[in-house]
Amino acid sequence: MGFGRGYGKVILFGEHFVVYGIPSIVSAIDKSTTATVERVAGRGWVLEDRRPATPGYKEEKLEQQRDSIERVLRAAGIDTERNQIRITLAGDLVAASGIGASAASCVALARALSDEFGLGFSDERINEIAFEGERAYHGNPSGVDNTAATYGGLLWFVRGKPIGRISIRHPVEIVMANTGLVANTEAAVAGVRERKERHPERYGRIFKEAEALVHAAKEALLKFDLKEVGRLMNENHRLLQEIEVSCRELDELVGIAMESGAYGAKLTGGGLGGNIVALTPGADLQERVARAIEREGYEVLRTRIG
Ligand code: MEV
Repeated sequence: MGFGRGYGKVILFGEHFVVYGIPSIVSAIDKSTTATVERVAGRGWVLEDRRPATPGYKEEKLEQQRDSIERVLRAAGIDTERNQIRITLAGDLVAASGIGASAASCVALARALSDEFGLGFSDERINEIAFEGERAYHGNPSGVDNTAATYGGLLWFVRGKPIGRISIRHPVEIVMANTGLVANTEAAVAGVRERKERHPERYGRIFKEAEALVHAAKEALLKFDLKEVGRLMNENHRLLQEIEVSCRELDELVGIAMESGAYGAKLTGGGLGGNIVALTPGADLQERVARAIEREGYEVLRTRIG
């Protein structure tokens, strides 16, 4: 039986803008999806998806998931007409929008295939295969999610460029909170493209701001100036509102996090549902923010970056 793992992720700065070559800052989180691959008699592949999930997520993504698995198998060079396999997905990463669930599962599967068929894929190759799988979910992915899912850590990611690692003094507590809304990343990315083409000047200005912001965020992280990191996260959220990928629930969660003392908060990932991330250094602040959000009935994840 082959085994593989892929991490969940949180984008701290630059989602959507990263699709157009603007740098982004992403961290893997300590939750992951696992995949096992077993050879069984017959033809084709079967899937057992045991991942915990936001209600409706798996149903909504089923078609994209099937397409994604086919793409991963093809990219890995596995012919399931000759070798029937059973794929089992599990792990403690909740399958939800904004947390890198699709990328984590593509990475986990690519690794499990490599293990089962003795393919000896390098991380670089795993990342390339997962990118192919991500096309089924994102259409035109930047590659940020599969890169974080493959390599882990806190990363400076620019589309098509070698990854950079950002090293900070020590890990920092964050809270992620789930709107419970399943979002379609492909549609969110397509919407931004369409509005950008329609309003080139306004979007040009916003994109310039986003680029300056991510560079400032890297500086602030390296200096470990967390107040400044938080302030920049708020600015990033404002830009994401301007490009119309936020929604009432995301704004509400950001509001609760800020009212309960977070240093900064923003939507994370594709938006239009999914998750927010709040910067909450220290276990006490993390707990305070997490509880305030839970009191409003939302699901929360307490984790760390770096
Ligand atoms: C989704 O997690 C991040 C987006 O920037 C899409 C992408 O980079 O492929 C919205």
